[in-house]
Amino acid sequence: MGQNVAVLGTQWGDEGKGKIVDLLCESFDVVARYQGGHNAGHTVKFGDKHFALRLIPSGILHANKLCLLGYGMVIDPAALLEEIEKLRALGVTIESNLKISDSAHVILPYHKALDIAREEAAGTAKIGTTGRGIGPAYESKVGRYGIRVADLLDAEVLRAKIEFTCAERNAVLGSVYKKETFDPKQLFEMYVAFGQQLADRITSGTLLINEQIRAGRSVMFEGAQGTMLDIDHGTYPFVTSSNTVVGGICTGLGVAPKHIHKVIGVVKAYTTRVGAGAFPTELENEMGEHLRRRGNEFGTVTGRPRRTGWLDLAVLRTCAMLNGVDEIAITKLDVLDELDEIPVCVGYKVRGATWNTFPAFAVAHHDYEPEYRTFKGWKTSTAGITSYDDLPPQAKDYVQFIEEQTETKASIISTGPRREETILR
Ligand code: IMP
Repeated sequence: MGQNVAVLGTQWGDEGKGKIVDLLCESFDVVARYQGGHNAGHTVKFGDKHFALRLIPSGILHANKLCLLGYGMVIDPAALLEEIEKLRALGVTIESNLKISDSAHVILPYHKALDIAREEAAGTAKIGTTGRGIGPAYESKVGRYGIRVADLLDAEVLRAKIEFTCAERNAVLGSVYKKETFDPKQLFEMYVAFGQQLADRITSGTLLINEQIRAGRSVMFEGAQGTMLDIDHGTYPFVTSSNTVVGGICTGLGVAPKHIHKVIGVVKAYTTRVGAGAFPTELENEMGEHLRRRGNEFGTVTGRPRRTGWLDLAVLRTCAMLNGVDEIAITKLDVLDELDEIPVCVGYKVRGATWNTFPAFAVAHHDYEPEYRTFKGWKTSTAGITSYDDLPPQAKDYVQFIEEQTETKASIISTGPRREETILR
């Protein structure tokens, strides 16, 4: 029986999942994504090469790994084809090792246009989406008029669906938002062509992954975004539109819970967030700027500067609970190297009550009064350290405290962006 492992983000995304997935990949036969779309951005570095992955699991960079885009995803075929071409140009083999679930939903240009138009219209109440059409595509899915990957292979069905949905979306775009509308005929031609280009990769993802599991192959489930961006459990409405938590694997891939053997939560040594919404430990000062600069905290997809702040244990405890996290991977520990002191949020006062998990009801920044415990900084470089014993004692204290508070073991500690800059315990 293969050992199947989930790797997911414990904060608001950008925890460094890409590196961890890439690092662990060798021991797996299959790497599958279960939610999200090209709002995700993973950067993987090795040698002098720099790979930007959005839709395709990081497993693609390794030989003989089957990579699957699960049906819980929303897929922009143009973005997928572009990503395939870019990776191929860097020498990555993408043949029958990349499969797409036939029942994943498709993002169309009107989804993207609606995403952008709504954000513009919302003004200061905007979510700060990636503008990739993710939310509107999931809305189409839940509204039961979405277009699925399999529809790209059936011209008559595709034509009818595009005509119906485009008319409706055009009405909203044109009348409500005063934006340009789309020609259904042109969209149909574009999407039929995408279907032809992707036909060999389209398959029943659910059958495929379950056959692999039954055959004893081991699967890595690659999460995108983070737990606090989950549509149900995150900081709604400032979330993405999918289930980023471990349960999303069951619904987004058709894999039963008993096949998920271990959950690894990726924890950045401090916190970042892109887009709007409460961020109790945010640092809107010089220190925040320091973390942003040292941690190179700029979005992979949109290039936006990320908001930065101290580590928040209420967030991590919530995440450990929701996902049954077994082990954690701490990333970017070296970003804290120069600090004299490192405060860690141990809980909050929220409207007068004490919370040590994240309360779902409070979405406004001013609802939170974080309580901190301050650690002594180690003031020495940990960059590139590969053995736990070589970490300065203060850094070990920091790691141990996170372990105690999340009741997990930090089995991986990342001390730099490259594969080799890692402590494996
Ligand atoms: P959407 O997923 O584009 O709809 O964006 C919704 C929210 O999720 C926004 O705050 C985005 O900044 C955030 N988000 C989406 N994808 C990512 C990601 O991969 N990393 C971090 N934040 C993300």
